[in-house]
Amino acid sequence: MGPLLMLGAGRMGGALISGWRRAGLLAPSDLMITDPHPGEEALAAISEGARHDPDAAGMGKAACVLLAVKPQLWREAAAAVSGCLAPEAVIVSVAAGVRAADISEAFGGRPVARVMPTTAAAIGQGTASLFAPDPRASEIARTLFTAVGTVVDLEDETLMHAATAVSGSAPAYLYAFVEALETAGVTAGLTPEAAQTLARATISGAAALMAQSGVDPAALRQQVTSPGGTTQAALEVLMGPGGFEPLLKDAVAAAAARSRALAL
Ligand SMILES: NC(=O)c1ccc[n+]([C@@H]2O[C@H](COP(=O)([O-])OP(=O)(O)OC[C@H]3O[C@@H](n4cnc5c(N)ncnc54)[C@H](OP(=O)(O)O)[C@@H]3O)[C@@H](O)[C@H]2O)c1
Repeated sequence: MGPLLMLGAGRMGGALISGWRRAGLLAPSDLMITDPHPGEEALAAISEGARHDPDAAGMGKAACVLLAVKPQLWREAAAAVSGCLAPEAVIVSVAAGVRAADISEAFGGRPVARVMPTTAAAIGQGTASLFAPDPRASEIARTLFTAVGTVVDLEDETLMHAATAVSGSAPAYLYAFVEALETAGVTAGLTPEAAQTLARATISGAAALMAQSGVDPAALRQQVTSPGGTTQAALEVLMGPGGFEPLLKDAVAAAAARSRALAL
């Protein structure tokens, strides 16, 4: 990897900095950051040699530019640096909803890869949906994101809306589930501390078991559900009408619709 210029180093940019450093892919000296308020991970990298707000000559050395500002701010971030970049620089965008063709145009026709990552990249367990019609941009994005987790290729850019809804936004769904399980535990009589520990450790353990065993979630569910038992009683609520399936279809449709709206 050559030098990387990161436009925006907040929650997602910071998670990527942590993951890349952990994977040994990028040293702080390979990193340039433009951000008016860099996050904690970016500040740590800056204190160890990453360049903050590089000048035009510095930006001109970037082999890759990571666009990681909020989707509403991407044009202003692009306009501030585009004129300083080397002609062969490649743009990798993690901005939700923003089309590759629009990004390429704003960056003087440079090749673009679009990626929808997750913040677990910070611990090498991210998931990244990748769409990149240009082979060089695809290769650079693949190098960046396989270093911090699993990459899924999308053949059609419009699928990025669904991938955002099912992956980019989905860690928040799980965290909301854990919060609700903790609240339900307290309602059922547990202390908040006990409900917290039980819900968090149980869900983390179950997710790790699914990942490490490679067994389908449906099979794992059946393994822990005795006919007529307590789990089945709960699943009749969770998998009944108004349960997870219709609820998640609605949630995913809402996230995909928001992603489409951000593209306009
Ligand atoms: N967070 C996630 O889980 C996640 C997942 C997938 C994709 N994404 C994508 O990642 C992108 C960033 O999201 P985020 O959650 O990391 O947002 P964030 O925490 O707000 O980070 C964005 C950073 O960019 C800075 N910034 C604003 N304008 C800038 C400019 N013109 N040039 C350079 N930096 C600028 C912001 O500074 P200020 O605070 O001063 O505005 C902030 O520090 C979004 O496009 C989002 O769609 C995020």
